[in-house]
Amino acid sequence: MSKTKSHVATTINGNNVEFLCEPRQTLLDVLRDELHLTGSKEGCSSGDCGACSVMLDGRLVCACLVLAVETSGHSVETIEGMADGEELHPLQRKFLEHSALQCGICTPGFLVAAKALLDRDPDPTETQVRYWLAGNLCRCTGYDKIVRAVLDAAAEMRAN
Ligand code: FES
Ligand code: FES
Repeated sequence: MSKTKSHVATTINGNNVEFLCEPRQTLLDVLRDELHLTGSKEGCSSGDCGACSVMLDGRLVCACLVLAVETSGHSVETIEGMADGEELHPLQRKFLEHSALQCGICTPGFLVAAKALLDRDPDPTETQVRYWLAGNLCRCTGYDKIVRAVLDAAAEMRAN
């Protein structure tokens, strides 16, 4: 294995961040193990569960499928950047109000993915929400509470 590390300068949740990483390390590895941003979860490491969802230059991606070196010069948003200081994002509040989580492993990924949907479509139908979130797996909730929380958050955000 190569011992050579790459220097990466990127933006994470609006902050300039620099780190060293091996060429084979994923963005998820670096977020969790080097930068201690452990909100993004590791479920499958193969792009199947959505637990590691983050935004890369405004596009929803699985952090386990992105090499950390690929983020050089780019912008990453993680679940840690969703709340505004102490104030939760409406999606985060609605997940709590609707009890849309149990073990919580899937929750950061759902929140990041749902925000990506509402950023591009503030008034999705239930079917659109279900299709959009099809890449995020939850083995606890049965999905209905998650979908209701997203629709409720969308309605609140449209009203404000
Ligand atoms: S850990 Fe990345 S999609 Fe499952
Ligand atoms: S709350 Fe446990 S996997 Fe979704």
